[in-house]
This record gives sequence, C-alpha cells and structure tokens, in this order.
Amino acid sequence: MQNHYHSRMKVLTVASFFASFLVFPLSSFAGALVPLPPNPDIPSGNLQTPLKISLGKQLFFDPNLSANGRISCASCHVPSKGFADPRSVSIGVGGKHGNRNAPSALNAAYFSRQFWDGRAGSLEEQGIGPLTNPVEMANPSNRSVVRRLEKETRYRASFQRVFGGPVSIDRIAKAIAAYERTLVTPGSAYDQFLMGNKSALTSQEQRGFALFKGKGRCVLCHNGALLSDQGYHNLGVSGAKDVGRYAISHDPIDKGRFRTPGLRNVALTSPYMHDGSVKTLMGVVEFYNQGGGRNAYPKDALLIPLHLTKSEERDLVAFLNALTGETKREMSMK
Ligand code: HEC
Ligand code: HEC
Repeated sequence: MQNHYHSRMKVLTVASFFASFLVFPLSSFAGALVPLPPNPDIPSGNLQTPLKISLGKQLFFDPNLSANGRISCASCHVPSKGFADPRSVSIGVGGKHGNRNAPSALNAAYFSRQFWDGRAGSLEEQGIGPLTNPVEMANPSNRSVVRRLEKETRYRASFQRVFGGPVSIDRIAKAIAAYERTLVTPGSAYDQFLMGNKSALTSQEQRGFALFKGKGRCVLCHNGALLSDQGYHNLGVSGAKDVGRYAISHDPIDKGRFRTPGLRNVALTSPYMHDGSVKTLMGVVEFYNQGGGRNAYPKDALLIPLHLTKSEERDLVAFLNALTGETKREMSMK
C-alpha cells in the first residue's frame, strides 16, 4: 500500500514536473506566461521625456523622412492595423517592395532584438535602417535625411530643445525609439485573466488557452510576456527562398528560420507570417494543425500534426482574439 502510494506520488510529481514545462516551457523564467509589464526597459542613454516622445511621434508620422516625401513609418506600420501593414509585403518609395510583411511596432520595445531575423539589437539601431533601405524610404544617405529635416524651423527648434543640439541621425533614431517605447498595449482580456480575473476570458477562450498550452503545443515557442521565445524557427512557411536568420548568423542551421513573433494584438495584424502568406487566424491554426508547411529548409522538429477538431481550431482562434490590448488614443495622430 505504502509502495503503491509512493509510486503514484512519483508518477504525479513527474507528470506535474512535465506539465509545468507546458506553462513554463523554457528552463528560463523568461518563458513564463505573465502579463505584459507596464513599461519596457528604458536604456540609460535615451531617457524618456515628454518632448522627446512627441518629437519621435512627429517623425514617425512624417512622410518627409522618405526620399520622395510620401512615405512615413506609419505608411507601413498603420495605427488602425495594429501598427502593422495590411499588405502581404510592404511597398516603399517608387512602388518597390521587399519580401517581408511589416511586423507590428506595438510592444516592439519589449523585444531584445528587432526584425524577423533579429538583425537589429535595439530600437535606436532599428530606426535608422528604413531611412536608407532602397525598398522602404530609399534615402541615398543618412545625411540627406538630416539635411532635409534641418531645413524645417520646427525641427531645428525641437531637436535643440530636446537634445541641446542640431538634427542628427542618432537623435532622429533616439526620438523615434522613445515614441515607440510608449506603444505598449497592456490590459487585454488575457492579461486580466492572468491577473486573476477568471471571468475575463469566455469559456471558449479558456478552452483555447488550454489548447494553446497543451494539445496545440503553441506555448513551446510562444511564451513569456510577449508570447514569443525570441528564438528562431523554420515552420516551412511558403516556397520563398528567404534564408531568414541565416543571413545574420551565417550558421547553416538557421536557414529559413525566423524570429517567433509575439502574439499580442494579432487579431489586428493580418496577414500573417514573415511573408504575409496566411490571411486569417483560422488559416494559421489550420497550418499548424497539419504540422506546418514545407519549404527548402529543414522544418522545426517541434511541429507535428495536431489532430485538432474543427471546434478546437475555433477555440484556439477565439483565444488568439483575446490577446488584443488597449491602444491609447495618443499613440496615433489624433
Ligand atoms: C516601406 C514600408 C516600411 C516603412 C516605411 C517602415 N517600415 Fe518598419 N518594417 C517594415 C518591414 C517590412 C519590416 C520587417 C523587416 C524585416 O524583418 O526584415 C519592418 C520592421 C520594423 C520594426 C521591427 C519590429 C519587430 O518586431 O521586430 C520596427 C520597430 C519598425 N519596422 C519601425 C519602423 C520605423 C520607426 C520606421 C520609420 C523610420 C519604419 N519602420 C518604416 C516596413 C516598413
Ligand atoms: C516551433 C515553434 C512554434 C510553434 C510550436 C508555434 N509557433 Fe507560431 N510562429 C512561430 C514562428 C517562428 C512564426 C513565424 C514563422 C514565419 O513567418 O516563417 C510563427 C507565427 C505565428 C503566427 C503569425 C503571427 C504574425 O504576426 O505573423 C501566429 C498567429 C502563430 N504563430 C500562432 C501559433 C499558434 C496558435 C500555435 C499553436 C497551434 C503556434 N503558433 C505554434 C513559432 C512557433
């Protein structure tokens, strides 16, 4: 009897040990499913001030940052679309387009690396990229942007007030980054649920959450406050030849791998995946249900057919729809 009891306890302990990995799938604490912290970390070299934030916001919405004066950051990070791009791939100056879908700028400040391939280490670094990217804002040089802004009295005055000096590329990036650190969306039904309000999620959404952590295996990669492990995986998305993370790491194992996107506000940011190839959340769930897709590179071993029923698929979609947080009015241009 004693032995039986003990071995049963052992089985239970082992089971709950593994079960705990479903909730805290990474050995690190970073993987825990926790509410969005109220504020991202602020780097000591770029402290937040109201004037800096409002200068950054002005820049974010200013088409004059692009070579032809027609494309602002907000052209591809559209406030009403969760600061993402409703087009599969973004279209820049002169109708040129790249091969990636613009991720949301909401909560980007919580990511330790930026872009689908993690090539930028900070928002300050990230913000300079689009200015001279030929398929985005297409400026011939950083200097040309600085010269253009310097011609505007309001900018000369604001940069002087905020930074005590003239317009420079680093200051442009710092101001935009300061604004981006205000683009945070706490308070989703999911966050309220995690904080103990058990009626914040409907019973269907709760079933979806259980599938997310269990049978659906989503939490293996979508975890932490952002619902991203901030790691890189190949799901076999589309036939495109984008090498993803490999272009940065040059490690052959990274071919076709992309950074796990966060899932906050995902209901607002269709289409999905790095190439915008999946139009709906149901499409995404069906993609996972069949075990992912197929492309030229080895697929992540974590993806297996899930055998979800149609109603389980709907439950998962309902859960994904409960991840939309509060967007404050002052985030966009009035
Ligand atoms: C022509 C469209 C376009 C414009 C203009 C544009 N972006 Fe982007 N943005 C993108 C695309 C596409 C990506 C993804 C690129 C990649 O991962 O390689 C991206 C990525 C980002 C990211 C990374 C988010 C993440 O989760 O990694 C941030 C932040 C961002 N852009 C902010 C800005 C800012 C600030 C500006 C203005 C200075 C800007 N973007 C201008 C299309 C655009
Ligand atoms: C092996 C890790 C992994 C697992 C498991 C996983 N995901 Fe993902 N997820 C990713 C990566 C990586 C991407 C981006 C892939 C790409 O674009 O090539 C992604 C993309 C997504 C997107 C698109 C987000 C956007 O902004 O484009 C959604 C939605 C999503 N996953 C939900 C889920 C759900 C729901 C499950 C469980 C059924 C799940 N994921 C399981 C790693 C994973």
